[in-house]
Amino acid sequence: MGREFGLYGIFGFPLGHTLSPAMQEAAFQAVGLKAFYLPFEVRAKEFRALMRRRSCLLLDGFNVTVPYKREVMKYLDGSTPEARAIQAVNTVYQKGGRWLGANTDVNGFLISLKKEGRFDPKTKNVLVLGAGGAARAVAYGLAKSGACEVRIANRLRYQFRREKIRKDFRPLFPKTKFIGLNLNRNGLRKGLEGVDLVINATSVGVLYEDVLIPASLIPSAASRKEILFFDLVYHKPTRFLETARKRGHRVLDGRNMLVYQGAEAFRLWTGKRAPVAVMRKAIW
Ligand code: ATR
Repeated sequence: MGREFGLYGIFGFPLGHTLSPAMQEAAFQAVGLKAFYLPFEVRAKEFRALMRRRSCLLLDGFNVTVPYKREVMKYLDGSTPEARAIQAVNTVYQKGGRWLGANTDVNGFLISLKKEGRFDPKTKNVLVLGAGGAARAVAYGLAKSGACEVRIANRLRYQFRREKIRKDFRPLFPKTKFIGLNLNRNGLRKGLEGVDLVINATSVGVLYEDVLIPASLIPSAASRKEILFFDLVYHKPTRFLETARKRGHRVLDGRNMLVYQGAEAFRLWTGKRAPVAVMRKAIW
């Protein structure tokens, strides 16, 4: 490290709701490391200027969030194959003097799905709402875990995003069927047919209140099989989950995913096992 303390941070805009500083600083303290973790809420122009001169920043590692997860890649010396396929990096770490990017959202998502959701995606049909960076990480994780169908629903005018997911992931996961749908009544009806898991990977719940799926389209768990509903949003209850819960389904928010993605970042930075329970407690 060369300094008496470690220095980490997170870049994004806006960063108002970030829980990462509290979570990571609690983790450093718990394992006896002297280190700080700071939020850098910067506009695109400032972000680029800082990344070009990142060696002057004196950071040991950092997280990147919306809207820079893709952009950061061009300033790095390399990225993991997973991050390259997803085209999004949320964790930057140093190895042998090189700055490398990883996507810890994938495993964060999968661990939470398995542990808290008690859900194994293998041979399952999944509906993913959204086709941005988060949706790409989720779709990749599901296919990697052997999902049968990954149905991606987003807005018609951004159709190119879901088509890109299909084009990029199909050759990597020939056993998984990638299906593109419109985020409207008709598309959602098709997407919900025989589905096992529904994931909100849009930023809708972060920015405003929107249910995304009308309650009338969601089959009642009493009459049909139970569906698990997962919202990646972690800082507030969303109407998406509330609606699903009212229809009798199990629901899962993004809080544990946040913990597990942070735990993997911590391990990449420090080489130490992350104190997951401490990290969870710091943000709950
Ligand atoms: P992230 O990294 O969180 O995925 P992003 O790449 O900006 O952020 O993606 C935001 C996602 O939220 C997109 O999938 C976007 O949908 P489109 O692909 O249709 O653009 C989705 N999103 C944002 N606002 C939305 C809205 N009002 N209704 C539906 N989807 C919305």
